[in-house]
Amino acid sequence: RKAVTIPALQAMRDAGEKIAMLTCYDASFAALLDRCGVDVLLIGDSLGNVLQGQTTTLPVTLDHMVYHTECVARGNHSAMVMADMSFGTLASPEHAFNCAVRLMQAGAQMVKVEGGAWVADTVRYLVERSVPVCAHVGLTPQSVHAFGGFKVQGKSNAAAEQLKADALALQDAGAQMLLMEAVPAALATEITNMLHVPTIGIGASAACTGQVLVLHDMLGIFPGRKAKFVKDFMDGQSSIEGAVRAYVQAVKDGSFPAAEHTFSA
Ligand code: KIV
Ligand code: NA
Repeated sequence: RKAVTIPALQAMRDAGEKIAMLTCYDASFAALLDRCGVDVLLIGDSLGNVLQGQTTTLPVTLDHMVYHTECVARGNHSAMVMADMSFGTLASPEHAFNCAVRLMQAGAQMVKVEGGAWVADTVRYLVERSVPVCAHVGLTPQSVHAFGGFKVQGKSNAAAEQLKADALALQDAGAQMLLMEAVPAALATEITNMLHVPTIGIGASAACTGQVLVLHDMLGIFPGRKAKFVKDFMDGQSSIEGAVRAYVQAVKDGSFPAAEHTFSA
């Protein structure tokens, strides 16, 4: 297939086509996910959880992110490679840019930043300097201690209004994509319809332009309780490749997420 670029992702959104995204941390999985038609590979700082055994993403360093981005970039052929800006990289626009340069030089084509309107200046600074940005709002895991736990965001009217204002501010700042995590389905649908850039949901809404899951979650490899928005795609499959293809198919045809994977306000 042709390389998945930012204009290609925008064209998918404009044509009503769904975007399938998964996290990825190494070259072997990068090759497999690319071959199965996953559009975007996210080197998520969830690697702190699934690779390092941490309980939060806060201990993940930029050096960790750079290393895994290099691994993924080597295995990938045509998918878009997106890397998370780890905790502490958003101290200032200048600091964020220097961190983003390291991720881009490691092979990222786009970076993801957690935060609302307060991070818009940084988003603008990055985008102006040729670093494409996906903004991540809602349950931003780097804010776990500020939130007091991993909780659905945007539930009250005031919080929903704030989230809408954040989404618009981030799009205005130049973010080429918006990822929403653990927000009520109706709100995620409204924000998707409000924006002109693609939206990606995780525990958000089937109406989002695309979906993302943590690779280990969708393969059923995780300790403890399964989050509501996770579906184990190994169920009924005899290979990892089968599970990934089932995920891509379910995202593309809109059957994932089902109502049971989303939140009501
Ligand atoms: O780090 C990660 O895996 C993420 C996704 C869950 C969106 O940010
Ligand atoms: Na992340």
